[in-house]
Amino acid sequence: MKTTTIAEVNQYVGQQVTIGAWLANKRSSGKIAFLQLRDGTGFIQAVVEKANVSEEVFQRAKALTQETSLYVTGTVRIDERSPFGYELSVSDLQVIHEAVDYPITPKEHGVEFLMDHRHLWLRSRRQHAIMKVRNEIIRATYEFFNDRGFVKVDAPILTGSAPEGTTELFHTRYFEEDAYLSQSGQLYMEAAAMALGKVFSFGPTFRAEKSKTRRHLIEFWMVEPEMAFYEFEDNLRLQEEYVSHLVQSVLARCRLELGRLERDTAKLELVKPPFPRLTYDEAIQLLHDKGFTDIQWGDDFGAPHETAIAESFDKPVFITHYPTSLKPFYMQPNPNRPEVVLCADLIAPEGYGEIIGGSERIHDYELLKKRLEEHHLPLDAYAWYLDLRKYGSVPHSGFGLGLERTVAWICGVEHVRETIPFPRLLNRLYP
Ligand code: 4AD
Repeated sequence: MKTTTIAEVNQYVGQQVTIGAWLANKRSSGKIAFLQLRDGTGFIQAVVEKANVSEEVFQRAKALTQETSLYVTGTVRIDERSPFGYELSVSDLQVIHEAVDYPITPKEHGVEFLMDHRHLWLRSRRQHAIMKVRNEIIRATYEFFNDRGFVKVDAPILTGSAPEGTTELFHTRYFEEDAYLSQSGQLYMEAAAMALGKVFSFGPTFRAEKSKTRRHLIEFWMVEPEMAFYEFEDNLRLQEEYVSHLVQSVLARCRLELGRLERDTAKLELVKPPFPRLTYDEAIQLLHDKGFTDIQWGDDFGAPHETAIAESFDKPVFITHYPTSLKPFYMQPNPNRPEVVLCADLIAPEGYGEIIGGSERIHDYELLKKRLEEHHLPLDAYAWYLDLRKYGSVPHSGFGLGLERTVAWICGVEHVRETIPFPRLLNRLYP
Protein backbone atom coordinates (compact mmCIF):
# COMPACT_ATOMS: atom_id res chain seq x y z
CA MET A 1 0.00 0.00 0.00
CA LYS A 2 1.25 3.52 -0.90
CA THR A 3 1.25 6.45 1.48
CA THR A 4 0.82 9.52 -0.68
CA THR A 5 -0.60 13.04 -0.87
CA ILE A 6 -3.76 14.35 -2.50
CA ALA A 7 -1.69 16.17 -5.15
CA GLU A 8 -0.15 12.86 -6.20
CA VAL A 9 -3.17 10.52 -6.23
CA ASN A 10 -3.31 10.85 -10.03
CA GLN A 11 -0.33 8.48 -10.12
CA TYR A 12 -2.34 5.74 -8.38
CA VAL A 13 -5.62 5.41 -10.27
CA GLY A 14 -7.17 2.02 -9.51
CA GLN A 15 -4.71 1.40 -6.67
CA GLN A 16 -5.08 1.51 -2.92
CA VAL A 17 -3.34 4.38 -1.10
CA THR A 18 -3.21 5.90 2.38
CA ILE A 19 -3.39 9.66 2.88
CA GLY A 20 -2.83 11.69 6.04
CA ALA A 21 -5.51 14.42 6.02
CA TRP A 22 -7.93 16.64 7.90
CA LEU A 23 -11.69 16.56 7.57
CA ALA A 24 -12.77 19.83 5.93
CA ASN A 25 -16.45 18.97 5.67
CA LYS A 26 -18.78 15.98 5.68
CA ARG A 27 -22.18 14.91 4.37
CA SER A 28 -23.74 11.61 5.30
CA SER A 29 -26.99 9.80 4.77
CA GLY A 30 -28.14 6.28 5.77
CA LYS A 31 -25.63 4.12 3.93
CA ILE A 32 -23.00 6.53 2.67
CA ALA A 33 -20.70 9.30 3.97
CA PHE A 34 -18.95 11.88 1.79
CA LEU A 35 -15.80 13.21 3.42
CA GLN A 36 -14.18 16.38 2.06
CA LEU A 37 -10.52 15.91 2.90
CA ARG A 38 -7.59 18.30 2.73
CA ASP A 39 -3.93 17.58 3.33
CA GLY A 40 -2.29 20.89 2.40
CA THR A 41 -1.42 19.70 -1.10
CA GLY A 42 -5.05 19.71 -2.17
CA PHE A 43 -8.66 18.74 -1.56
CA ILE A 44 -10.38 15.45 -2.41
CA GLN A 45 -13.67 13.73 -1.72
CA ALA A 46 -13.53 10.35 0.01
CA VAL A 47 -16.63 8.14 -0.16
CA VAL A 48 -17.39 5.71 2.68
CA GLU A 49 -20.05 3.15 1.79
CA LYS A 50 -21.55 1.00 4.50
CA ALA A 51 -21.40 -1.99 2.13
CA ASN A 52 -17.62 -1.64 1.59
CA VAL A 53 -16.29 -1.18 5.15
CA SER A 54 -16.72 -2.74 8.56
CA GLU A 55 -19.57 -1.41 10.72
CA GLU A 56 -16.97 0.07 13.10
CA VAL A 57 -15.25 2.06 10.32
CA PHE A 58 -18.60 3.24 8.98
CA GLN A 59 -19.69 4.50 12.41
CA ARG A 60 -16.28 6.17 12.85
CA ALA A 61 -16.71 7.96 9.51
CA LYS A 62 -20.20 9.16 10.43
CA ALA A 63 -18.99 10.51 13.77
CA LEU A 64 -16.04 12.49 12.33
CA THR A 65 -15.93 16.13 13.34
CA GLN A 66 -14.59 19.06 11.30
CA GLU A 67 -10.76 19.36 11.33
CA THR A 68 -10.22 15.95 12.90
CA SER A 69 -6.93 14.55 11.59
CA LEU A 70 -6.95 11.05 10.18
CA TYR A 71 -5.34 8.44 7.98
CA VAL A 72 -7.63 7.38 5.17
CA THR A 73 -7.05 4.28 3.08
CA GLY A 74 -8.92 3.73 -0.16
CA THR A 75 -8.87 3.13 -3.90
CA VAL A 76 -8.25 6.09 -6.21
CA ARG A 77 -10.95 6.62 -8.85
CA ILE A 78 -11.27 9.15 -11.64
CA ASP A 79 -14.22 11.43 -10.97
CA GLU A 80 -15.12 13.80 -13.78
CA ARG A 81 -17.49 15.83 -11.59
CA SER A 82 -14.98 16.70 -8.90
CA PRO A 83 -12.95 19.89 -9.51
CA PHE A 84 -9.84 17.92 -8.60
CA GLY A 85 -10.70 15.05 -10.96
CA TYR A 86 -10.28 12.15 -8.46
CA GLU A 87 -12.15 10.49 -5.65
CA LEU A 88 -11.18 8.01 -2.95
CA SER A 89 -13.30 4.95 -2.32
CA VAL A 90 -12.59 4.28 1.36
CA SER A 91 -11.75 0.87 2.85
CA ASP A 92 -10.36 2.01 6.20
CA LEU A 93 -9.84 5.13 8.29
CA GLN A 94 -7.96 5.83 11.53
CA VAL A 95 -8.46 8.94 13.62
CA ILE A 96 -5.17 10.60 14.66
CA HIS A 97 -6.66 13.41 16.73
CA GLU A 98 -10.27 14.38 17.20
CA ALA A 99 -11.02 18.11 16.83
CA VAL A 100 -13.80 19.25 19.15
CA ASP A 101 -15.86 22.39 18.40
CA TYR A 102 -13.68 23.80 15.62
CA PRO A 103 -14.57 27.49 15.68
CA ILE A 104 -14.71 28.15 11.92
CA THR A 105 -17.75 26.35 10.57
CA PRO A 106 -19.02 26.35 6.97
CA LYS A 107 -21.49 29.14 7.88
CA GLU A 108 -20.60 32.82 7.33
CA HIS A 109 -18.34 34.50 9.90
CA GLY A 110 -17.53 38.19 10.41
CA VAL A 111 -14.13 39.50 9.32
CA GLU A 112 -12.91 40.33 12.83
CA PHE A 113 -13.78 36.83 14.02
CA LEU A 114 -11.89 35.32 11.10
CA MET A 115 -8.92 37.63 11.69
CA ASP A 116 -8.83 36.60 15.37
CA HIS A 117 -8.66 33.01 14.13
CA ARG A 118 -6.22 33.63 11.31
CA HIS A 119 -4.10 30.67 12.50
CA LEU A 120 -7.09 28.42 11.69
CA TRP A 121 -8.66 30.48 8.90
CA LEU A 122 -5.56 29.72 6.80
CA ARG A 123 -6.89 26.15 6.46
CA SER A 124 -9.92 27.19 4.40
CA ARG A 125 -10.07 26.57 0.66
CA ARG A 126 -10.08 30.24 -0.22
CA GLN A 127 -7.06 31.06 1.96
CA HIS A 128 -5.29 27.96 0.68
CA ALA A 129 -5.80 29.17 -2.90
CA ILE A 130 -4.53 32.68 -2.10
CA MET A 131 -1.39 31.32 -0.37
CA LYS A 132 -0.68 29.08 -3.36
CA VAL A 133 -0.92 32.03 -5.75
CA ARG A 134 1.32 34.07 -3.44
CA ASN A 135 3.85 31.24 -3.53
CA GLU A 136 3.69 31.08 -7.33
CA ILE A 137 4.35 34.83 -7.58
CA ILE A 138 7.43 34.40 -5.36
CA ARG A 139 8.63 31.40 -7.39
CA ALA A 140 8.12 33.26 -10.68
CA THR A 141 9.98 36.28 -9.27
CA TYR A 142 13.11 34.24 -8.55
CA GLU A 143 12.78 32.55 -11.95
CA PHE A 144 12.42 35.87 -13.81
CA PHE A 145 15.40 37.58 -12.20
CA ASN A 146 17.68 34.56 -12.15
CA ASP A 147 16.99 33.96 -15.87
CA ARG A 148 18.16 37.52 -16.54
CA GLY A 149 21.41 37.32 -14.60
CA PHE A 150 20.27 39.17 -11.48
CA VAL A 151 21.83 38.27 -8.14
CA LYS A 152 19.58 38.01 -5.08
CA VAL A 153 21.00 40.22 -2.33
CA ASP A 154 19.53 40.43 1.15
CA ALA A 155 19.00 43.87 2.65
CA PRO A 156 19.19 44.45 6.41
CA ILE A 157 15.98 44.82 8.43
CA LEU A 158 17.53 46.96 11.17
CA THR A 159 18.73 50.22 9.67
CA GLY A 160 20.02 53.63 10.66
CA SER A 161 18.56 55.54 7.69
CA ALA A 162 15.18 56.12 6.11
CA PRO A 163 14.72 55.95 2.33
CA GLU A 164 11.03 56.80 2.06
CA GLY A 165 10.76 59.70 4.53
CA THR A 166 11.00 59.89 8.27
CA THR A 167 7.37 60.03 9.36
CA GLU A 168 6.43 56.37 8.86
CA LEU A 169 9.35 54.77 10.68
CA PHE A 170 9.22 52.13 13.37
CA HIS A 171 11.74 53.24 15.92
CA THR A 172 13.71 50.85 18.10
CA ARG A 173 16.92 50.82 20.14
CA TYR A 174 20.10 49.22 18.86
CA PHE A 175 22.12 48.98 22.07
CA GLU A 176 23.16 52.63 22.63
CA GLU A 177 21.97 53.82 19.19
CA ASP A 178 18.66 54.61 17.54
CA ALA A 179 17.56 52.22 14.83
CA TYR A 180 14.59 51.78 12.51
CA LEU A 181 12.86 48.82 10.91
CA SER A 182 13.49 48.88 7.18
CA GLN A 183 10.94 50.69 4.99
CA SER A 184 12.75 49.61 1.82
CA GLY A 185 15.98 47.82 0.95
CA GLN A 186 16.58 50.20 -1.95
CA LEU A 187 19.59 52.15 -0.72
CA TYR A 188 21.42 48.92 0.08
CA MET A 189 20.44 47.50 -3.33
CA GLU A 190 22.04 50.56 -4.95
CA ALA A 191 25.30 49.69 -3.21
CA ALA A 192 24.90 46.05 -4.27
CA ALA A 193 24.19 47.03 -7.92
CA MET A 194 27.54 48.85 -8.00
CA ALA A 195 29.16 45.57 -6.91
CA LEU A 196 27.07 42.98 -8.82
CA GLY A 197 25.44 44.90 -11.70
CA LYS A 198 21.85 43.64 -11.54
CA VAL A 199 20.45 42.67 -8.15
CA PHE A 200 17.14 42.14 -6.41
CA SER A 201 16.04 41.82 -2.84
CA PHE A 202 12.92 40.26 -1.42
CA GLY A 203 12.05 40.85 2.18
CA PRO A 204 9.70 42.31 4.76
CA THR A 205 9.35 46.08 5.04
CA PHE A 206 7.63 48.15 7.70
CA ARG A 207 5.58 51.33 7.56
CA ALA A 208 4.18 52.91 10.69
CA GLU A 209 1.37 54.39 8.59
CA LYS A 210 -1.88 55.18 10.34
CA SER A 211 -3.75 54.11 7.17
CA LYS A 212 -6.70 51.81 7.50
CA THR A 213 -7.47 50.99 3.89
CA ARG A 214 -7.83 47.80 1.89
CA ARG A 215 -4.37 48.43 0.38
CA HIS A 216 -2.26 49.14 3.46
CA LEU A 217 -0.36 46.75 5.67
CA ILE A 218 2.02 47.77 8.44
CA GLU A 219 4.36 44.92 7.51
CA PHE A 220 4.51 43.94 3.85
CA TRP A 221 6.90 42.17 1.50
CA MET A 222 8.65 43.95 -1.31
CA VAL A 223 10.63 42.80 -4.36
CA GLU A 224 13.29 45.43 -5.08
CA PRO A 225 15.43 45.12 -8.22
CA GLU A 226 18.23 47.63 -8.84
CA MET A 227 20.24 47.83 -12.05
CA ALA A 228 23.52 49.61 -12.85
CA PHE A 229 23.53 51.39 -16.23
CA TYR A 230 19.72 51.19 -16.52
CA GLU A 231 18.03 54.45 -17.39
CA PHE A 232 14.38 55.41 -16.99
CA GLU A 233 13.21 53.67 -20.18
CA ASP A 234 15.09 50.40 -19.45
CA ASN A 235 13.52 50.34 -15.99
CA LEU A 236 9.96 50.57 -17.36
CA ARG A 237 10.58 47.84 -19.94
CA LEU A 238 11.87 45.49 -17.25
CA GLN A 239 8.83 46.21 -15.06
CA GLU A 240 6.29 45.41 -17.77
CA GLU A 241 8.10 42.18 -18.63
CA TYR A 242 8.30 41.21 -14.96
CA VAL A 243 4.65 41.90 -14.12
CA SER A 244 3.52 40.09 -17.29
CA HIS A 245 5.68 37.11 -16.33
CA LEU A 246 4.05 36.98 -12.89
CA VAL A 247 0.53 37.05 -14.31
CA GLN A 248 1.23 34.51 -17.06
CA SER A 249 2.94 32.16 -14.59
CA VAL A 250 -0.06 32.23 -12.25
CA LEU A 251 -2.41 31.64 -15.20
CA ALA A 252 -0.33 28.65 -16.30
CA ARG A 253 0.21 27.04 -12.89
CA CYS A 254 -2.68 28.10 -10.64
CA ARG A 255 -5.82 27.44 -12.73
CA LEU A 256 -7.48 25.48 -9.94
CA GLU A 257 -6.80 28.22 -7.40
CA LEU A 258 -8.02 31.02 -9.69
CA GLY A 259 -11.17 28.98 -10.30
CA ARG A 260 -11.74 28.55 -6.58
CA LEU A 261 -11.34 32.33 -6.15
CA GLU A 262 -13.78 32.89 -9.04
CA ARG A 263 -11.21 35.15 -10.68
CA ASP A 264 -12.14 36.53 -14.10
CA THR A 265 -9.06 35.25 -15.95
CA ALA A 266 -9.97 36.91 -19.27
CA LYS A 267 -8.78 40.20 -17.78
CA LEU A 268 -5.48 38.63 -16.68
CA GLU A 269 -4.85 37.10 -20.12
CA LEU A 270 -4.50 40.65 -21.49
CA VAL A 271 -1.52 41.44 -19.25
CA LYS A 272 1.36 41.40 -21.74
CA PRO A 273 3.88 44.10 -22.73
CA PRO A 274 3.75 46.92 -23.62
CA PHE A 275 1.76 48.66 -20.88
CA PRO A 276 0.12 52.03 -21.51
CA ARG A 277 1.88 55.12 -20.15
CA LEU A 278 0.60 58.44 -18.98
CA THR A 279 2.65 61.35 -17.71
CA TYR A 280 1.53 62.90 -14.44
CA ASP A 281 0.40 65.95 -16.47
CA GLU A 282 -1.74 63.76 -18.72
CA ALA A 283 -3.14 61.94 -15.67
CA ILE A 284 -4.22 65.28 -14.16
CA GLN A 285 -5.89 66.18 -17.47
CA LEU A 286 -7.64 62.78 -17.61
CA LEU A 287 -8.95 63.28 -14.07
CA HIS A 288 -10.24 66.76 -14.93
CA ASP A 289 -11.99 65.28 -17.98
CA LYS A 290 -13.57 62.66 -15.70
CA GLY A 291 -14.94 65.32 -13.40
CA PHE A 292 -12.31 65.38 -10.61
CA THR A 293 -12.15 69.16 -10.64
CA ASP A 294 -10.55 69.56 -7.20
CA ILE A 295 -7.19 67.95 -8.03
CA GLN A 296 -4.43 70.40 -9.05
CA TRP A 297 -0.93 70.03 -10.48
CA GLY A 298 1.31 69.22 -7.49
CA ASP A 299 -1.31 67.14 -5.61
CA ASP A 300 -0.74 63.44 -4.99
CA PHE A 301 -3.28 60.92 -6.22
CA GLY A 302 -5.57 59.17 -3.77
CA ALA A 303 -7.17 55.75 -4.23
CA PRO A 304 -10.25 57.16 -6.10
CA HIS A 305 -7.96 58.97 -8.55
CA GLU A 306 -5.87 55.85 -9.19
CA THR A 307 -9.02 53.81 -9.72
CA ALA A 308 -10.44 56.39 -12.17
CA ILE A 309 -7.18 56.36 -14.16
CA ALA A 310 -6.97 52.56 -14.16
CA GLU A 311 -10.56 52.29 -15.44
CA SER A 312 -9.47 53.80 -18.75
CA PHE A 313 -7.15 50.87 -19.49
CA ASP A 314 -7.30 47.06 -19.68
CA LYS A 315 -3.69 46.58 -18.60
CA PRO A 316 -1.62 48.00 -15.76
CA VAL A 317 -0.77 51.65 -16.53
CA PHE A 318 2.42 53.60 -15.78
CA ILE A 319 2.08 57.13 -14.47
CA THR A 320 5.42 58.82 -15.10
CA HIS A 321 7.20 62.11 -14.35
CA TYR A 322 5.61 63.13 -11.05
CA PRO A 323 6.39 66.52 -9.52
CA THR A 324 9.73 66.42 -7.70
CA SER A 325 8.06 67.79 -4.55
CA LEU A 326 5.88 64.66 -4.22
CA LYS A 327 8.67 62.10 -4.36
CA PRO A 328 11.61 60.95 -2.20
CA PHE A 329 15.00 62.70 -2.26
CA TYR A 330 16.86 60.13 -4.39
CA MET A 331 14.94 60.42 -7.67
CA GLN A 332 16.71 61.76 -10.78
CA PRO A 333 15.21 65.02 -12.07
CA ASN A 334 14.12 65.16 -15.70
CA PRO A 335 17.07 66.99 -17.35
CA ASN A 336 14.80 69.13 -19.55
CA ARG A 337 12.34 69.91 -16.80
CA PRO A 338 13.75 69.54 -13.27
CA GLU A 339 10.40 70.15 -11.55
CA VAL A 340 9.47 66.55 -12.45
CA VAL A 341 11.43 63.34 -11.77
CA LEU A 342 12.24 60.28 -13.91
CA CYS A 343 9.93 58.02 -11.96
CA ALA A 344 6.92 55.82 -12.58
CA ASP A 345 4.21 54.25 -10.49
CA LEU A 346 2.48 51.21 -11.95
CA ILE A 347 -1.26 51.14 -11.29
CA ALA A 348 -2.98 47.75 -11.48
CA PRO A 349 -6.27 47.44 -13.39
CA GLU A 350 -9.69 46.98 -11.76
CA GLY A 351 -9.07 49.33 -8.83
CA TYR A 352 -6.26 47.41 -7.08
CA GLY A 353 -4.09 50.53 -6.93
CA GLU A 354 -0.36 51.11 -7.13
CA ILE A 355 1.68 47.92 -7.19
CA ILE A 356 5.09 49.35 -8.18
CA GLY A 357 7.00 52.51 -7.38
CA GLY A 358 10.33 53.09 -9.08
CA SER A 359 12.72 55.60 -10.65
CA GLU A 360 16.07 56.42 -12.06
CA ARG A 361 18.31 57.45 -9.14
CA ILE A 362 20.39 60.60 -8.75
CA HIS A 363 23.98 59.64 -9.60
CA ASP A 364 25.58 63.08 -9.20
CA TYR A 365 27.25 63.59 -5.82
CA GLU A 366 26.55 67.34 -5.44
CA LEU A 367 22.91 67.06 -6.44
CA LEU A 368 22.27 64.14 -4.07
CA LYS A 369 23.92 66.01 -1.18
CA LYS A 370 21.76 69.05 -1.93
CA ARG A 371 18.61 66.93 -1.94
CA LEU A 372 19.51 65.26 1.38
CA GLU A 373 19.97 68.73 2.89
CA GLU A 374 16.68 69.98 1.45
CA HIS A 375 14.94 66.99 3.04
CA HIS A 376 16.68 67.70 6.40
CA LEU A 377 18.25 64.24 6.42
CA PRO A 378 21.43 63.72 8.50
CA LEU A 379 24.43 63.60 6.13
CA ASP A 380 26.48 61.41 8.45
CA ALA A 381 23.85 58.61 8.35
CA TYR A 382 23.91 58.79 4.54
CA ALA A 383 27.71 59.09 4.15
CA TRP A 384 27.97 55.54 2.81
CA TYR A 385 25.15 56.24 0.32
CA LEU A 386 26.91 59.39 -0.88
CA ASP A 387 30.11 57.34 -1.29
CA LEU A 388 28.39 55.43 -4.12
CA ARG A 389 28.43 58.75 -6.05
CA LYS A 390 32.08 59.39 -5.21
CA TYR A 391 33.71 56.26 -6.62
CA GLY A 392 32.72 55.47 -10.19
CA SER A 393 29.10 56.63 -10.09
CA VAL A 394 26.90 55.42 -12.96
CA PRO A 395 23.29 55.98 -14.03
CA HIS A 396 21.12 53.35 -12.37
CA SER A 397 17.48 52.61 -11.75
CA GLY A 398 15.25 50.32 -9.77
CA PHE A 399 11.80 49.73 -8.41
CA GLY A 400 9.82 48.11 -5.62
CA LEU A 401 6.86 45.79 -6.19
CA GLY A 402 4.51 45.33 -3.25
CA LEU A 403 3.86 41.59 -3.05
CA GLU A 404 0.53 41.72 -1.21
CA ARG A 405 -1.09 44.27 -3.52
CA THR A 406 0.07 42.17 -6.47
CA VAL A 407 -1.42 39.02 -4.92
CA ALA A 408 -4.68 40.90 -4.22
CA TRP A 409 -4.95 42.02 -7.83
CA ILE A 410 -4.05 38.68 -9.43
CA CYS A 411 -6.37 36.76 -7.08
CA GLY A 412 -9.13 39.37 -7.36
CA VAL A 413 -9.22 39.66 -3.56
CA GLU A 414 -10.72 42.85 -2.15
CA HIS A 415 -8.44 43.44 0.87
CA VAL A 416 -4.68 42.88 1.34
CA ARG A 417 -5.31 41.32 4.78
CA GLU A 418 -6.07 38.00 3.04
CA THR A 419 -2.90 38.04 0.92
CA ILE A 420 -0.29 37.60 3.70
CA PRO A 421 -0.30 34.65 6.13
CA PHE A 422 -0.34 36.75 9.31
CA PRO A 423 -1.30 40.36 8.53
CA ARG A 424 -0.04 43.25 10.61
CA LEU A 425 -2.64 46.00 10.45
CA LEU A 426 -3.46 49.12 12.40
CA ASN A 427 -4.81 47.64 15.69
CA ARG A 428 -3.86 44.07 14.84
CA LEU A 429 -0.80 42.22 16.11
CA TYR A 430 -2.63 38.95 16.98
CA PRO A 431 -2.21 36.14 16.10
O1 4AD B 1 6.36 53.37 -3.60
P1 4AD B 1 7.11 52.74 -2.45
O2 4AD B 1 7.05 53.42 -1.15
O3 4AD B 1 8.61 52.61 -3.00
C1 4AD B 1 9.71 52.29 -2.28
O4 4AD B 1 9.75 51.92 -1.13
C2 4AD B 1 10.96 52.32 -3.13
N1 4AD B 1 12.12 52.53 -2.26
C3 4AD B 1 11.06 51.04 -3.90
C4 4AD B 1 12.26 51.00 -4.80
O5 4AD B 1 12.36 51.79 -5.73
N2 4AD B 1 13.15 50.08 -4.56
O6 4AD B 1 6.61 51.25 -2.28
C5 4AD B 1 6.71 50.33 -3.34
C6 4AD B 1 5.47 49.44 -3.38
C7 4AD B 1 4.17 50.18 -3.65
O7 4AD B 1 3.97 50.38 -5.03
C8 4AD B 1 3.15 49.22 -3.06
O8 4AD B 1 2.89 48.17 -3.97
C9 4AD B 1 3.88 48.65 -1.88
O9 4AD B 1 5.27 48.83 -2.11
N3 4AD B 1 3.47 49.31 -0.63
C10 4AD B 1 2.63 48.77 0.26
N4 4AD B 1 1.97 47.59 0.28
C11 4AD B 1 1.18 47.31 1.35
N5 4AD B 1 1.06 48.14 2.40
C12 4AD B 1 1.69 49.33 2.44
N6 4AD B 1 1.56 50.13 3.51
C13 4AD B 1 2.53 49.69 1.33
N7 4AD B 1 3.31 50.76 1.03
C14 4AD B 1 3.87 50.50 -0.16
